Amino acid sequence: MDVLEAIKTRRSVRRYKPDPVPEEILKEILSAARMAPSADNAQPWKFVVVTDEEIKRKLVQACNSQKFIAEAPIVIVGCGFPDDAYATAGGYMNSFVMDVMIAMDHLILAATSLGLGSCWIAAFKEEKVREIIGIPSDARVVALTPLGYPNEVPNKTSRKSLAELISYDKFE
Ligand SMILES: Cc1cc2nc3c(=O)[nH]c(=O)nc-3n(C[C@H](O)[C@H](O)[C@H](O)COP(=O)(O)O)c2cc1C
Repeated sequence: MDVLEAIKTRRSVRRYKPDPVPEEILKEILSAARMAPSADNAQPWKFVVVTDEEIKRKLVQACNSQKFIAEAPIVIVGCGFPDDAYATAGGYMNSFVMDVMIAMDHLILAATSLGLGSCWIAAFKEEKVREIIGIPSDARVVALTPLGYPNEVPNKTSRKSLAELISYDKFE
C-alpha cells in the first residue's frame, strides 16, 4: 500500500483480534518511526513496546479505563526528551512533542499499510504511565497507541472541507 492509500484508509481501531504481530512486521513498523524527521535531527524520542498483559492492563487504568487498549497484542508508548530537542521552534516552543508525533504518525501509517490497526491515545494520566513503565525524569509521555489486527471496520469520520483549511498568500 502506498503512503496516500495508507493516509486515506487509516481509521482509529477500537476492537482488536488477539492474534500476535509477527516480529518482522513489528520491526518494519518501528523502523518507520526511526526514519522520521526531527528538528535539528535530534531524534529526541523513545518508543516502549508493551506486550506484557499485566502492564497493558495497568496502562488501561492510566488511560481513563479505555479497555480496548489492552485488547491489542501490543501497546506503543511514545516518549520524548525535551532537553535533547530543539528548544525554540518558531522562537517559542520546544519541538519534542512535534518530533514524537511525527515519528508516531510514521509508525501508524506503516502499521496501516501492513494491515494493522492503531488508535492515537492522548487521554492518559502521565504520572500513572510514568510509574507503570518506569520512565526516567528527563523523558515525557507524548502519546500511546495500541497495535494489532483490527476486529472491526470503523466508521468513516468526517473532515472539514479543504476550503475551510486553506487560504492562499494571506491568512483568511
Ligand atoms: C492527538 C490525538 C489524541 C487522541 N486520543 C484518543 C483517545 O485517547 N482515545 C480514543 O479512543 N481516540 C483518540 N483519538 C482518536 C480520535 O478520536 C480520532 O482520530 C478522530 O475521531 C478521527 O477518527 P479517525 O482516526 O478514525 O479518522 C485521538 C486522536 C489524536 C490525533
